Amino acid sequence: MVESLVIGANGLIGREARRALLRTKGGCAGTYFGRPEEGLVKLDRTCRDEVERMLGETAPKVVLDCANFPGGVNRCEQDREAARQFHLEATRNLSRCCKEAGAFMVYISSDYVFDGTKTEPYREEDEPKPANHYGELKHEAEEAIRQEVSSHLIVRTTNVFGWDPMTRTPNYIMNLYRTIREERTFWAPSFLWGTPTYVGDLVEGILELVDRGATGTYHVVGKSFVNRYEWAKEACRTLGLDGTYLAEVKEPDAGDAARPKQCRLSTDRFESVCKTVLHGYREGTALMKREMGGAS
Ligand SMILES: NC(=O)c1ccc[n+]([C@@H]2O[C@H](COP(=O)([O-])OP(=O)(O)OC[C@H]3O[C@@H](n4cnc5c(N)ncnc54)[C@H](OP(=O)(O)O)[C@@H]3O)[C@@H](O)[C@H]2O)c1
Repeated sequence: MVESLVIGANGLIGREARRALLRTKGGCAGTYFGRPEEGLVKLDRTCRDEVERMLGETAPKVVLDCANFPGGVNRCEQDREAARQFHLEATRNLSRCCKEAGAFMVYISSDYVFDGTKTEPYREEDEPKPANHYGELKHEAEEAIRQEVSSHLIVRTTNVFGWDPMTRTPNYIMNLYRTIREERTFWAPSFLWGTPTYVGDLVEGILELVDRGATGTYHVVGKSFVNRYEWAKEACRTLGLDGTYLAEVKEPDAGDAARPKQCRLSTDRFESVCKTVLHGYREGTALMKREMGGAS
């Protein structure tokens, strides 16, 4: 029996979550899928039997679902059925398994459940209206969890970033870092606005919510609202990268999935129960730099 199980414990959010759980609670099991890692157990989240067996064997009090469908938003449009199986059907199955095992389920959702047309920050109770297939699936997955397992926490976040050197699915700033270090141009969209979220803050916020017994839906995002070009410029300054490799993109590419252009989530509900500080992108990037140590 373990205190917690992190699914996708070698991903950006999952790795940070497991690290924090091991530090604070001990007894945390973790899974990988395609990239074996010492200390982690293989699990295919889309396989019902494997998920049932894993929960039966580990009997966790809390399950943190930090797995992600490789290829992101664009691949969800191209490979719609596989995306549905991963994001919706596997989530429904996991929530049923959590209920049967008596485990508290933590699910990470996205601001993409909204289309970004509201000028004020979105609140948790606002009606979702996704702009693309990924957003639709995240919304449907949230609904499935609400129906299947009352003991749950859904955290909506966005633009999560942090130092993740082993990744095959680099976050925005890791992508910037690698591209510029390879002396290639990094194309940064100035038409996409959001609230960059430092992974350490997100995980601390999620674990504080769990500790405080919070249930239902919460927004946990960084405090600054910025476009991706400005964010990239700031990251170059902080991480000591050559900003001349940055190029501004003013319009979406014809082949890109539709995305909310300006999506801002209100963190009022989170701040009414938690003390965790959700830093802005400048402070978050400085925290990332500290994690990088000598790598710069
Ligand atoms: N990152 C963001 O900005 C962001 C924003 C909003 C919401 N979210 C949500 O947060 C969650 C985690 O995202 P992330 O960015 O941390 O992901 P990530 O860094 O891309 O990591 C994905 C993880 O999922 C695992 N995985 C892939 N296929 C799997 C499968 N079939 N079964 C089990 N595990 C599988 C991977 O394992 P291997 O590497 O071993 O294959 C890896 O551990 C997702 O639900 C995502 O929608 C993320």
